[in-house]
Amino acid sequence: MRTVEILERKRDGEPLEEDEIRFLIDGYCEGSIPDYQMASFAMAVVWHGMTFDETLALTKAMIDSGDIIDCRGLGKKSIDKHSTGGVGDKTTLVVAPLVASLGYAVPKLSGRGLGHTGGTLDKLESIPGYRTSIDQDTFLDIVSRIGVAVASPTENIVPADKLLYALRDATATVRSLPLIASSIMSKKLAVATDAISLDVKVGEGAFFRTLDEAREFAHLAIRIGDTMDRRVHCMLSAMDAPLGHAIGNALEVQEAIATLHGMGPTDFVAVCESASLSMLHALEPGLDEKNGLERIRNAIHSGRAWEVFREWIAAQGGDIRTIDDPSLLPQAARSIDVTASHAGTVSAVHALMLGHLAMELGAGRETKEDSIDPSAGIVLHVSPGVTVQAGDVLATLFTNAPGDETPWVEQLREACPLENRPGHAAPSPILEMVGA
Ligand code: URA
Repeated sequence: MRTVEILERKRDGEPLEEDEIRFLIDGYCEGSIPDYQMASFAMAVVWHGMTFDETLALTKAMIDSGDIIDCRGLGKKSIDKHSTGGVGDKTTLVVAPLVASLGYAVPKLSGRGLGHTGGTLDKLESIPGYRTSIDQDTFLDIVSRIGVAVASPTENIVPADKLLYALRDATATVRSLPLIASSIMSKKLAVATDAISLDVKVGEGAFFRTLDEAREFAHLAIRIGDTMDRRVHCMLSAMDAPLGHAIGNALEVQEAIATLHGMGPTDFVAVCESASLSMLHALEPGLDEKNGLERIRNAIHSGRAWEVFREWIAAQGGDIRTIDDPSLLPQAARSIDVTASHAGTVSAVHALMLGHLAMELGAGRETKEDSIDPSAGIVLHVSPGVTVQAGDVLATLFTNAPGDETPWVEQLREACPLENRPGHAAPSPILEMVGA
């Protein structure tokens, strides 16, 4: 096979055969196909798209580029949960132990944050002692004993995606539905579980900007799962405003702990309940939603989800004293209250702007090499639709960074604009459930 001939056919909009796609992926991983040829392939896909068969072939070739961790047969049904990412998204910290407490196994390989979205591993590492790098046997042992483990993937889980994603990032070829679906689904399918639930975020702080795009992705992911004998269920949720009140690693852990104690913010509780319901839908064909929701709420109110959270954090080396008393989690030296300059109703709380501000305060990283400050971030005191008076606190900023706070204060006020109209209830973040 000649790479240039394959590229010519894709350039001209012809669908490729499975063996041609595999030839490209294998060659790229081995180094016989250089970046410039793979970039040309990615750009041709951005322009022409892919048929379902091509997308499936790409997903399979990517899975086969590395190891598979089989999490079936651990004595309980297993489920993987994935969010396409957003600002303040700490859902995994609540729903993974919650669904584990219902008798399921929730093995999860997670990522670190880059840019305005935080990563689950960074949040967990703000708990002193928590180990994200554990070997496969330890990972599976914790999952089978406790029901949940969250760790970093080894180098050899879908190495093709690591290479291709970095290339796409640098060549403006990230935004392509088949490339996104094959990237996400190859990683989900390489950790083989009985079922998969996807939280597909929609909005200005998310990967998908429109509900239509998110829906199309959800249907494609479900179809790939079906073909590979895996039940996939999706929740589509809004990411225009940050999720919950806390943005930043230790601050989000504290909010997750409050939620596990039944004291979470309304929007975050709604997302946790629906994400758990989506996981049950994927696990239990014909689920009675009312009964599912009762079990989910009972897991919180009985304290069982919290108990599993403690057991899981302890099993991965986390210092339990810091989650029993979250004031022992990392604390920033500076806290800055940002007040409203005039009275009004909060017309929006812009997730993207706040994600960038949190990054400036030290909570995120701009490049993979940057280190993060676990204590830095933002706690919001308002949500869209809330009416404030001049001098009311809109948010508190936490940082160890030196310097003048004026630009941060201005950015926060810009992210929470006030308008002259009566207060109103914030819309529910749950947009749609898609799946069997
Ligand atoms: N997240 C991924 O893992 N891959 C993509 O292509 C986009 C988002």
